Amino acid sequence: DSDLQELMEQQRKNLLSTLPRQRWQGSYLYKYNGFWFSTMQMPGLVEFRKHFQARDSDVLIITTPKSGTTWLKALAFALMNRNIYPINQNHPLLNQNPHTLVLNLEYLSPHDKQHPDYSFQGSRRLLGTHCPLALLPESVMNSGCKIVYLCRNIKDIFVSYWHFTNKLGSTETSFEEFFDLFCKGVSLSGPVWDHVLGYWKASLDKPQKVLCLKYEEMTQEPAFNLKHLAEFLGCPISQEEETAGAVDEILGLCSFDQMRNLEVNKSGTLGNLRNHAFFRNGKVGDWKNDLPSEMAGRLDQITAQKFHGSGLDL
Ligand code: A3P
Repeated sequence: DSDLQELMEQQRKNLLSTLPRQRWQGSYLYKYNGFWFSTMQMPGLVEFRKHFQARDSDVLIITTPKSGTTWLKALAFALMNRNIYPINQNHPLLNQNPHTLVLNLEYLSPHDKQHPDYSFQGSRRLLGTHCPLALLPESVMNSGCKIVYLCRNIKDIFVSYWHFTNKLGSTETSFEEFFDLFCKGVSLSGPVWDHVLGYWKASLDKPQKVLCLKYEEMTQEPAFNLKHLAEFLGCPISQEEETAGAVDEILGLCSFDQMRNLEVNKSGTLGNLRNHAFFRNGKVGDWKNDLPSEMAGRLDQITAQKFHGSGLDL
């Protein structure tokens, strides 16, 4: 068994040594099939692509980091499991972080097993990933598995990102360098524009399969978006449920203030990451406080160019 592990470790190192890499926040990002991934993501991503078999009943939550993944995971978990876990003081979201309840496939690194165990949940699996569409295992697109993609204003993603990496204690890269790399597409699962466009186009081609939500719209019209999500996932909220307050209860349970103030999210950890880092201020347009206008202009320009003709407006 240890021989096998050693062999796999060697294969991983061999793969990494063939990929272009970029120094990034105290570590490296690797360019793999046109997208950038961290040392931590790479082994699990490769395993996921090789071995994950999607089921028709699966639901995948897909984002680029800092688009509001934590929020969407919480909403989807509460929605899909509302019959097993009624919204009361025993709800799992009150003592577990959404990333613990909805695992990211590429972080399921098979350290002590030949292949990661993807069959860890009940009949309907709810999982997350930052994997771009072009790199998804074939079974995801060829099965009935549903994808919920969340996008967000690129300037807000960038600023959220900067604060997040700082909270992780990695201050090797300056704000200017970090920005420059981000513009060149060098960020976790970046280029962010290519990531978003892939799923945006898929949502237009296959609206029954891929639902694209926007962070800004969810903030503005949370009830409408939650009900839409429930319908898409095949677990619509009935009139009786709504009258009984189900929509407000789920939104309340998953709201930024509620979640940020939970003990598990104030002091809990996820590997070497503090849960607290996932909750900053959850505002739309907060980039204005950190991004000088020339930088904002440069990001807007890239965004306009990349999204031109796609109908996508972020
Ligand atoms: P800000 O840094 O702009 O506050 P991700 O979950 O993809 O890592 O994204 C993190 C961003 O989502 C952060 O944005 C965070 O504050 C915000 N966020 C986390 N939980 C949220 C919630 N329940 N509702 C709204 N926004 C939330």
